[in-house]
Amino acid sequence: MTALRASVLVDAAALAEACASEFVELAGAAVRERGQFRVALAGGNTPRATYARLARPDLGAHIPWGRVQILFGDERCVPPDDPASNYRMAREAWLDAAGAPSTSVRRVRGELAPEAAVADYAAVVGTAPLDLVLLGIGSDGHTASLFPGGPELDSTARVVRTTSPVAPHDRVSLGLAAIAEARAVRFLVAGAGKAAVLAEIARQVASGAPDLPAARVAASSPHCSWWLDRAAAADLPGDPT
Ligand code: 6PG
Repeated sequence: MTALRASVLVDAAALAEACASEFVELAGAAVRERGQFRVALAGGNTPRATYARLARPDLGAHIPWGRVQILFGDERCVPPDDPASNYRMAREAWLDAAGAPSTSVRRVRGELAPEAAVADYAAVVGTAPLDLVLLGIGSDGHTASLFPGGPELDSTARVVRTTSPVAPHDRVSLGLAAIAEARAVRFLVAGAGKAAVLAEIARQVASGAPDLPAARVAASSPHCSWWLDRAAAADLPGDPT
């Protein structure tokens, strides 16, 4: 038994299918219950397959774009057309093909100076809980752009400026507080390269002493679960729930 509420899928494609299907369900439920769906997307490479699956009309046609606000869990401080931009990745993998209205997409203005980008995005995120936050993890246990040992891990700010050990170094990220209070948090983790850090995250959560940023998110969010493929889950003790 692990401390993580995890669903293990046979491979990355099955993970993308399951995550995309749940995304559409959560969007529909949020709109029915509250009239809107505010979701923060994950960056990096893992979610590309989920976003591409959402671009396919059989699922994508069910997304109520007029009631959806697409936000970003983090962004690199680069222009929106920069190859390192998480916004550009989501546009290319999903949003352009889906015809997402520009009014539905609230990117981080990475072209601004970092502190200005943080202030600007804090106004976008506001104080209301997000309906869904999608996250990945790095092999160092970071999530969004919250990195191990970062001073912002102790901040209560809902949007924080962080510094990545790898370029682009200047980042804007949701803070732990904004992630923890989301109505749903979903980690998407695939590949053998994440197996060791995932096992460490599970150990930290089970021990009640979360230290890595991803472990602190998992321990602080009552509505957090994990979409894993078998390769990433290989080192988890017991059978994930
Ligand atoms: C980013 C992401 C970051 C990402 C992890 C995993 O801006 O890079 O927000 O937190 O989710 O680094 O990245 P991969 O999915 O590419 O392994």
